[in-house]
Amino acid sequence: MSERKLNILFTAAEVVPFAKTGGLADVAGALPKALAKLGHNIIVVMPRYYQIDKTKLEHVDGSLGVTMGPMGTLWAGVYTTKLPDSDVSIYFIDHEQMFGRRGLYDDNGKAYGDNDNRFIFFSKASLELCKMLHFTPDVIHANDWHTAILPLLSKTRYVHDFRNAATVLTIHNLQHQGHFFKGAVDVMEIGWSHFNPHALESLDGLNFLKGGIAYADAVTTVSKRYAQEIQTPEFGFGLERHIQAHASKLFGILNGVDYDEWNPSVDSYIQERFDIGNMDGKRACKRAMQEYFKLEVRDDVPLIGFVGRFAEQKGIGLVAGVINGLLKQELQVVMLGAGEKWAEHYFSTVSAHNSGKFGLHVGYSDKLAHQIEAGCDLFLMPSLFEPCGLNQIYSLRYGTLPIVRSTGGLDDTIENFNEAEGTGNGFKFDFATQDGLYNTVMWAVNIYHNNKQAFEAMQERAMKMHFSWDDSAKEYNEVYQHIISKYNA
Ligand code: ADP
Ligand code: GLC
Repeated sequence: MSERKLNILFTAAEVVPFAKTGGLADVAGALPKALAKLGHNIIVVMPRYYQIDKTKLEHVDGSLGVTMGPMGTLWAGVYTTKLPDSDVSIYFIDHEQMFGRRGLYDDNGKAYGDNDNRFIFFSKASLELCKMLHFTPDVIHANDWHTAILPLLSKTRYVHDFRNAATVLTIHNLQHQGHFFKGAVDVMEIGWSHFNPHALESLDGLNFLKGGIAYADAVTTVSKRYAQEIQTPEFGFGLERHIQAHASKLFGILNGVDYDEWNPSVDSYIQERFDIGNMDGKRACKRAMQEYFKLEVRDDVPLIGFVGRFAEQKGIGLVAGVINGLLKQELQVVMLGAGEKWAEHYFSTVSAHNSGKFGLHVGYSDKLAHQIEAGCDLFLMPSLFEPCGLNQIYSLRYGTLPIVRSTGGLDDTIENFNEAEGTGNGFKFDFATQDGLYNTVMWAVNIYHNNKQAFEAMQERAMKMHFSWDDSAKEYNEVYQHIISKYNA
């Protein structure tokens, strides 16, 4: 197959460093740069949320007229800048009514009632932007439900301008599908024939992700294991049969890591830098975390960290179930996260009763996330499902051994410790039970206390691993080259 340099439109609802609620932003900030390194001409588009200071961006002359069916035409402004340390342009769709709000998708946990219109508007504006820039995409790459209708829009309402564009939809999380009232079909302006159970329709409403899966030329997930899992009832969130029907265009491509950002030898957030062969800095980082969280400052007790959304997905219920038992043992735990209110309250109570052994920070802090990765001995990620998971991969680089459930990207990136063979880079359990989690944590703690040599050898193996965006970009490129062929016969 001959390789072509491609024009790529890459859309995402969040992009690092401009707005982030989770790993999607990390991916959208890094993958386009790796694709550009392969010679592709790529532009990234995201909404200009209120929190993004437009005085730091460049204003693009002109405005985009976006037709929204019964809502009439809405006019959007456009701003631009480059992704940090790159030549990749990112464009921001600016519309006060749609995006000038406090949250990205919700206000303090309450989803905005017009998210359907907001992301139909954003998706359409991305296409209008291409027209304004005279940028003819060979590939339109959409991410998650927010922009999942792009393959459908480009093949219907916008077919005149985008008939030769191949489309890719990356699923970062199947739990969030974008379910809405069916009236939004009129706002999409695609015609009601697409509202059927094989495409957009689900339970007499709209399902953006389902529609995207039906119309995209390729669908990708962020690990190979997750591509398999979502075809089963346990992980399919009701879409397993729909996904099975489209399995021939489904590919799993593991995320990479931005090692400029997540690397203990250059990390500017952490108290002291370190690397293989010079782990004194890690001990200093551990002390700093114990001081920050007012724990007993001791080098001889394992410090276990958790960073992540307080959501069922992350196994937060399992952690809540075992935490009191664990804190009776020779170990310390620190947690950083926010989300489900019950979890925030519950862990605050645990914190109040276990000072000296348990530390909690409710909120969002990039700095603390890096410091926890650096200062802990073990990292807890007992997810019920995990499409890829980034924190366990960051943990590896910091020699902070992950304790994970064997699902999705956790299973693809973590190899279980095998004492006899001297292999593995973490500790895994199969079933999402409290016993499974408790016993695995205690296994890891036991190795920490009683087999220092094996523990340190495992840290070294973990730190040597490399999950490169360049490798992932090559795999995306293969998918692109494969799907464009049908448009360039
Ligand atoms: P998900 O996207 O499902 O939330 P990932 O592991 O892919 O899970 O990515 C989560 C990202 O968000 C990581 O970069 C992690 O460090 C970050 N993160 C999550 N919660 C917090 C928090 N409370 N403070 C700082 N960073 C956080
Ligand atoms: C999602 C998933 C997470 C993945 C991230 C980036 O939010 O929950 O597992 O790492 O997207 O692809």
